[in-house]
Amino acid sequence: MIKDNIGNTALEKHEALSRQYGTGIWIKEEYRNPGGSSKDRVAWYMVQDAIKYNKIPEGGIFVEASSGNTGISLALIARELGYQCKIFVSKSTSFEKILMLQRLGAQVEVCLNSNGPLDENSTQFKAKTFADQHPEAYFTNQYYNEANIEAHYQTTGPEIWRQMEGQVTHVLIGMGTGGTISGIGKYLKEKNPNIQIWGVEPINSIYQLIVQDMPIPEDQTKFDPIEGIGRTFIPGSFDPSVVDQVFQVSADKTKKIAHLFSHQNKQLTGYSSAAVLAALDEHAKVMNLKSSDRMVIVFPDHGDRYLEKLYSNKAGNKNGDLGFKHV
Ligand SMILES: Cc1ncc(COP(=O)(O)O)c(C=O)c1O
Repeated sequence: MIKDNIGNTALEKHEALSRQYGTGIWIKEEYRNPGGSSKDRVAWYMVQDAIKYNKIPEGGIFVEASSGNTGISLALIARELGYQCKIFVSKSTSFEKILMLQRLGAQVEVCLNSNGPLDENSTQFKAKTFADQHPEAYFTNQYYNEANIEAHYQTTGPEIWRQMEGQVTHVLIGMGTGGTISGIGKYLKEKNPNIQIWGVEPINSIYQLIVQDMPIPEDQTKFDPIEGIGRTFIPGSFDPSVVDQVFQVSADKTKKIAHLFSHQNKQLTGYSSAAVLAALDEHAKVMNLKSSDRMVIVFPDHGDRYLEKLYSNKAGNKNGDLGFKHV
């Protein structure tokens, strides 16, 4: 059963990063989930909730608006449990994720954007419209589903606490729906309110404004494209009360860090994972981490989902950049 393999992912101290930034840094390796990302946890909780409360008929269609990872997790779980799956992705979703969704048997619809339920060209609007028109369909709606935060509150947060033996001072997490940071933050703050919960988003995303209680400009519809993170609207799956600070990074810096980290570690890092590394690098002075600090950073997925976008020649990556020998 897929559920037996979801969660309990490794948490490894990264010695080189710890030396580089003069503090203890551990990586929560969420790409080790069976569907390849942290979204397995959320998909499992949303599916269980839908089945338990009869929100979907037997063999019905799970519908979701997703940058790809939630869709992949839902497709895997739906297939195992005998359901169908229809995923609305935005046109910025990577080629690898769309191909994987199709191979897992999901129907894929590509939309213009993911700007929230009020924009009729968005993944969220199209997914809701489809579910409204098809009684056999259920829109899991990760942006407003309580199971999104709950999955991380019940599983990822406790895992981090246990794996760090309660000795964690900071957590640094990319924010898309906000579910990961909200669930982990809520759990860890209950254990120790002094733990700093820090978020990462692309330049011009709105989470920083929300956390600082600042007005959100009406024309705030564009942010630097870093797949999986960033928002133009306030989702119900985000709880600003457990987030202490938000750091913004550019897509350019994130790409550079992705290449550098992959070269040094001989491992392809995911796009939003690289954004967390970029935040660490760009904002190290403000973060002011001490040698005694113990920070957990979350890697939600793996670089193999972004081969074309991040690591191919097309993405501006030169042959040999990753240190592989050409024979
Ligand atoms: C690769 C990746 N990183 C980060 C996130 C953000 O996680 P959350 O939606 O819990 O904020 C997502 C969400 O889709 C993602 O796919």
